[in-house]
Amino acid sequence: MSSASLPKALLDQVTAPYRPLGNFAWRFARGKLGGDPAFAGLLQAGLIPSHARILDLGCGRGLLAALLCGLDKHPSLSQVWPAGWASAPHGVSVRGIELMPRDVERARQALAHLGPRAEFVQGDMCHTDFGQADAVVILDVLHYVSYAAQDDVLRRVKTALTPGGTLLLRVGNASAGLPFRISNWVDMIVAFVRGKRLSSLYCRPLRDWQQALTGLGFEVQTLPMHDGTPFANILLVARLPATATSAS
Ligand SMILES: C[S@@+](CC[C@H](N)C(=O)[O-])C[C@H]1O[C@@H](n2cnc3c(N)ncnc32)[C@H](O)[C@@H]1O
Repeated sequence: MSSASLPKALLDQVTAPYRPLGNFAWRFARGKLGGDPAFAGLLQAGLIPSHARILDLGCGRGLLAALLCGLDKHPSLSQVWPAGWASAPHGVSVRGIELMPRDVERARQALAHLGPRAEFVQGDMCHTDFGQADAVVILDVLHYVSYAAQDDVLRRVKTALTPGGTLLLRVGNASAGLPFRISNWVDMIVAFVRGKRLSSLYCRPLRDWQQALTGLGFEVQTLPMHDGTPFANILLVARLPATATSAS
């Protein structure tokens, strides 16, 4: 996948709701949505269907919801939408689950204007009900919980997805050498700055992630998702067949 970034006019619009929360919150939203290739990449590749109910696990401050629900509010989206990208999704709703109460509070404050289309639940994804979703997004989150807990989350994601649904899972590839180690150092430092001490991270080589997902009955594709960063992040696009299977 080529390097993609959000058009500036779109970035300005979807990050504006974070401005009343202060300069840091606004700049953080701009930096993450503008600098992390995952957000533009999901749209460029057409991985978010129109009218999809999205479940965003480890949603942080709700940036994915700000982007996806904000698309409908842009006054002239077709004029700023990049040529060559898949069509813009519309009518998407997002339910985010996030462990950190402060991030949930910020997401709710910034995105209250979206009403029920953007809902944020404070809780541990390992124990919080997933409900039903057409697509589940997990960006850089699963490595915070144990391997057994990861497997359980993936099983529950499968159950939560409608037939034909998609899991969009970004992970670090533990067999990628230095870029992978850099991702882990950054995770440890960010957690420390946020007042949390991480004793371990639970990472796997890419082929183990693929096996875990195919074992559950997903069809899996991979897309590199680290352009413009020093990391080794891969997006796994895991699709369920349109009719239910018995794999578990
Ligand atoms: C690296 S951040 C990624 C945030 C967001 N997905 C993004 O890409 O912008 C990881 C997020 O996962 C959250 N998280 C970690 N463990 C979690 C858990 N067990 N349940 C819910 N959220 C969790 C963290 O609090 C943090 O907000």
